[in-house]
Amino acid sequence: MAKFKPISELINNYQTGYSLEQEFYKNPDLYEVEMQNIFMKHWILAGHTSQIPNKGDYLLFEFDKESVIVIRTEDGSVKAHMNVCTHRGSHICLEKQGTVKALTCPYHAWTFNLDGELKAARNMHEDFDFSDNGLHKANVELVGGLIFVSLSENPPSLDGMRKDLADVFDVFGFDHMKVAKHQTYHIKSNWKLSVENYQECYHCAPSHKDFAKVHAMAMTPEKFNKQKEDFIAKSDGYVRTKASPFYFDLAKEGEECYQYDRNPLLPGRKTGSKGAEPVAPLLGKLKKYEEAASEFMVGPVTYFLIYDDHMLGYRFLPDTQETSICDLFWFVRDDAVEGKDYDLDDLTWLWHVTILDDEEIIVNNQKGVDSRYYRPGKLSEWEHFPQNFLNFYLNAISED
Ligand code: FES
Ligand SMILES: [Fe+2]
Repeated sequence: MAKFKPISELINNYQTGYSLEQEFYKNPDLYEVEMQNIFMKHWILAGHTSQIPNKGDYLLFEFDKESVIVIRTEDGSVKAHMNVCTHRGSHICLEKQGTVKALTCPYHAWTFNLDGELKAARNMHEDFDFSDNGLHKANVELVGGLIFVSLSENPPSLDGMRKDLADVFDVFGFDHMKVAKHQTYHIKSNWKLSVENYQECYHCAPSHKDFAKVHAMAMTPEKFNKQKEDFIAKSDGYVRTKASPFYFDLAKEGEECYQYDRNPLLPGRKTGSKGAEPVAPLLGKLKKYEEAASEFMVGPVTYFLIYDDHMLGYRFLPDTQETSICDLFWFVRDDAVEGKDYDLDDLTWLWHVTILDDEEIIVNNQKGVDSRYYRPGKLSEWEHFPQNFLNFYLNAISED
């Protein structure tokens, strides 16, 4: 049986500017702390309203041992209930997505309405209180059509982000998007290695030859910074270029971490696609291609990349301590018609090949981290976002 250092010792030993030591990826008690202090607390993308357009439509949002039913109720609102029957605990919805008239447990047929209230339970004692046995509720907030769920009793506020980024949501038409495709990728690595990888573009040039043909970010920081300065100087401000850098440990007190930034693509590149040419109609109120893309992040594990004609959503979740899930969502404007306005293969090509590249490097990373020879390594100057993530992470697991 492996012996692990106390978590407090692990945290105290961490040296800023280095990667984490091996036990951070291995200690099962620490994994439990991560679930409680990060995944059961923060806002995470659960899906999009376009995936559940009609009453009774639901999808499951799942990580680790948790399963949440995200459902369109009678009055058209979106609610979230834990997929745990209040009788003896069975999962109620067994399919990942579907449409129901009511939520009937497959075990003994207790039946809940779409709001999660218990409506039928066979042969219970006369004094049985139905009102006390509704499904456990989860918090839901909509950002445009994006559905965020938090399992906390007291979730961090999204109000500051909503106010700050109202112009961004408006110009990109967050109220008028739909999911064109959702795909799940299973990665044989601890979830932190997946998130750490997403936070840096140090690996982009060697690992992502297709991405590097489109994104200026794959160049050296000096070249990229110069191009970004030129881009901002030339911008007419129609799409916001001002950054909101409240990511990870830079979140304001009581508020969820978030980020917005706008970055240039390489000259002449319009969007993230095979030939960098448009793959869907312009989003929202955009009038032209700016050869740029915006970054948007909410909470610690949900990120978006907003091209002018489509948006990509990224969500990283733990499945077990050794395995993680990356969900990719491709969004287009809601009146775009598949086959006419966009072709799914063209739309999804770049990020499908990019996540496959990422999967390979993350899994190789995990193999080396598992070695008896692994030691924390020095981070480069390009890896400041992973450092912010690590700062956030260490603060989070230090909380009681
Ligand atoms: S466990 Fe659901 S009805 Fe018994
Ligand atoms: Fe990558």
